[in-house]
Amino acid sequence: MKPSFPLKHILIAAILAVFSLHLFADDAGTNSPRGKLLLDFNWKFHLGDDWPNFMRLDKAAQNSGPASDRFNDSAWRTVNLPHDWAIELPFDPTSDTSHGFKPVGPGFPKNSVGWYRRTFELPASDEGKRIWLDFEGAFRDTTVFVNGWEMKHNESGYFPFRMDITDVARIGGNNTVAVKVDASKFEGWFYEGAGIYRHVWLEKTAPVAIAPDGIFVYSQFKNNVPSGKAPINVEVQLLNSLTNEAKAVVNCEIISPDGKSVAKFKESDEAKGAAMKTVKLESKVSKPQFWSPESPKLYMLITTVEVGGQIVDRQETKFGIRTFAFDANKGFLLNGQPYELKGTCNHQDMAGVGEALPDALQYFRIAKLKEFGCNALRTSHNPPTPELLDACDRLGMIVMDENRLLGSDDANMERFEDFIHRDRNHASVGIWSICNEESTQTQPVAGRVGATMQEKLLQLDSTRPVTAAESVGDVFTGLPGTLEVRGWNYYVGSQMESYHAKHPLQPEVGTEQASTVCTRGIYANDKVRGYVSAYDVNAPSWATTTERWWSYFATRPWLSGGFVWTGFDYRGEPTPYAWPCINSHFGVLDTCGFPKDNFYYYQSWWTTNTVLHLLPHWNWPGKEGQEIRVDALSNCKSVELFLNGASLGKQTMQLNSKLSWQVKYAPGILSAKGFDENGNQIAETKVETTGDAASVHLAPDRATINADGEDVSIITVSVTDAQGRIVPTAGNKINFSIEGAGEILGVGNGDPSCHEPDTFVALPPVKNLPLNDWRWKLADLPARGATVPELAADFDDSAWDKTSSAGEDAQLQEGQTAIFRQHLNVSADDLNSSGISIHFGRIDDSGSVYVNGQRVGESRNWQDSPAYDIKNYLHAGDNVIAVGVRNSSGTGGLVMGVNVELTGQPVAPAWSRSVFNGLAQIMVQSTKDADEIKLTASADGLTPVTATIQSQACVPRPFVP
Ligand code: GAL
Repeated sequence: MKPSFPLKHILIAAILAVFSLHLFADDAGTNSPRGKLLLDFNWKFHLGDDWPNFMRLDKAAQNSGPASDRFNDSAWRTVNLPHDWAIELPFDPTSDTSHGFKPVGPGFPKNSVGWYRRTFELPASDEGKRIWLDFEGAFRDTTVFVNGWEMKHNESGYFPFRMDITDVARIGGNNTVAVKVDASKFEGWFYEGAGIYRHVWLEKTAPVAIAPDGIFVYSQFKNNVPSGKAPINVEVQLLNSLTNEAKAVVNCEIISPDGKSVAKFKESDEAKGAAMKTVKLESKVSKPQFWSPESPKLYMLITTVEVGGQIVDRQETKFGIRTFAFDANKGFLLNGQPYELKGTCNHQDMAGVGEALPDALQYFRIAKLKEFGCNALRTSHNPPTPELLDACDRLGMIVMDENRLLGSDDANMERFEDFIHRDRNHASVGIWSICNEESTQTQPVAGRVGATMQEKLLQLDSTRPVTAAESVGDVFTGLPGTLEVRGWNYYVGSQMESYHAKHPLQPEVGTEQASTVCTRGIYANDKVRGYVSAYDVNAPSWATTTERWWSYFATRPWLSGGFVWTGFDYRGEPTPYAWPCINSHFGVLDTCGFPKDNFYYYQSWWTTNTVLHLLPHWNWPGKEGQEIRVDALSNCKSVELFLNGASLGKQTMQLNSKLSWQVKYAPGILSAKGFDENGNQIAETKVETTGDAASVHLAPDRATINADGEDVSIITVSVTDAQGRIVPTAGNKINFSIEGAGEILGVGNGDPSCHEPDTFVALPPVKNLPLNDWRWKLADLPARGATVPELAADFDDSAWDKTSSAGEDAQLQEGQTAIFRQHLNVSADDLNSSGISIHFGRIDDSGSVYVNGQRVGESRNWQDSPAYDIKNYLHAGDNVIAVGVRNSSGTGGLVMGVNVELTGQPVAPAWSRSVFNGLAQIMVQSTKDADEIKLTASADGLTPVTATIQSQACVPRPFVP
């Protein structure tokens, strides 16, 4: 990201002169003025484009509506980030199929614009610091205002954006951030959500500091083959926001994965005033511990910057020592050795939460992928949130980090650079992909644009290979002939062979493969309900089965392995169906992360575990005596199948394959034994015919979570028979209730055709009292602080004119002033509302509002739609509202459409979700209280269950209170 650094005047130079620790003493322990505070909690949110004319283009910082500093958002709903409002909307068959039938985007203007507001204090001790707002991403077309000033307009929903707000910040006072998010347009052809769906940070730095994403640490070995000590290169970009030069000393320390300090080095340089300066440092690490998916060893670089003997900045950067490369014959190389990519492509959404994933869910998802041996992830088709990369760094997952669009225009290149700067320190990022399946991919123009992007990448990061997801066969023009590595989407067979023969020096990789479609626990296609059989038999015309693509790639090392479309099911693209299907069937896992049968195929051939899995389930009442296909997914050398103890034969397994039997159904136990090459039994498994549903069962993935308001326990809900066996066909509706220090975040069940809500929003009831039919009269207005009888409660206005109730203005001419009066009757019950506010169309040009003779506020912007909190001015019975209006130019007056809004207490929703083929999922998030959380699940006719989750005291990461 290119930071902007609006210059502060001489004052700041003077501050540097007295630059001392006590001035920036809030980062205890680190002696650094840098503070990075999470700005996720307690935002106010409003859905709807209710202030279409809020923008003023003629004057700065004079916008109205929520963008105005004076706007009253007390009646708005409170939400925490990350937040996706699309997930909260009901499914709608008239909305876009590929986006998962949520009524947002083109054709749904009412649901497509959202406003967020957050007010926070900047303490007086922040004087002299630079203050930044950092958005990890919002979908989409986002405009940010700070204290009424427009600070940033960012279009794409997938890139980070930040702004230096120092000039407009009120140090020692309250500051308001207002964010308009406009999701009226799509950027993709899959579910994209809506809202601020990633974290927001408030950052504070000294005027001389490390620039945003200003550290690059990397290790590069000759020919990408590790040997001897690891060379370490560090580039630190300093940002000097002062007008005068600063002499900076950059100190680096490297901490090994086992916590030892293994290198210290430093460099000093002059940073000119109002400029950036890159300081380059080098060192070496002996006996490096290499990062890999199997052993994700992370080093830490600690960078401190000193100016005038004082520490002005300190940052910790995790990094890995490892090499990534491709060889045209051996395929992908990790740390110099051939390494087969067993990858999956993934979109960002999940059951229950849509696009708004708390960090705990990123770790959950990466861990789930690793369970079946997946060692690589492609962030199709956009830059991910940084927390996904953190999870990949820590858990061990090579990332193909994908840009959104092909384009060498300024806007695209600026975003592209920001994205590379942000992600290039991550140990896990192993390959850059510049785009996916662009329509122009084989044209010479795509080659030229791609070459410019590739060149930029090499400048910013020479340590990783570059590719793109290309959906063309044996063609060399355009991107295929330009990029270092040839990516293959959906070609298996002869086109690849002939391309490889013609271009034997170009490395290749399967960027997107399979697109096999399966529904968890379903064993026959069902067009009506929108289900596809989970036997590995269905794939759209451009795609293949799991076994076909993998057995082809596994035997051709030059292809480097590849990436399955997809690891998880995602919302939208319900191929091969449409409504009632609302999510895809491509996943190895469903939207919750529950395995489909193909999970065990990959686990067999992608891990060294001994695997033996049988499908289908064995609950087929009414099919007695009929033949049922039984598959064994296994890496045993041979497998013997039994029904109720009788052998159905032993078969030998071929590499990367599976075994099948036709079995005449009889209820009971279907079992299998697996044998090694010497005939020794090494595995056994069984599926049993279960009894009827009897109980609900809850299994948290973590029974203890952190009381930081962010952590999540992901709980598997199952319906079991009297013997505790999951009933594989159960569809019972489960009701949930929660007590203690947690909140339900979302629910899901992986059913691609389920239209039950994923989230239940606690909305306050709102009662509206329209207030038209005003009395009015031309009258002088009192001077500020004074009043006149016409504004008092007891004035007799019966002889005054009435305004029209049709919503027309009572017109004032230039220079005229008038008073408008109205009665408002409220009951004692109404006064119990949590908020009562009055909303005006406009007060044109300016005016003051009085309730029962007391002044409650004023409006000075004729374009504003002002609203005032009037609860404390009202009593039960008759109340009088009076507005004194001054029309300075043109015609004006009180624009009707006045409304009093009574907001009740939010009603706690009743959460529920049906299990799908025996399973559902519920996510519980901690509050900031350390205490027990009790989650109860019940269903008609079933024994209920309560699970206890402990939310334990922790030091939460720093946040804005
Ligand atoms: C690919 C595309 C993916 C997805 C997939 C479905 O062509 O890159 O985004 O649409 O098809 O098979």
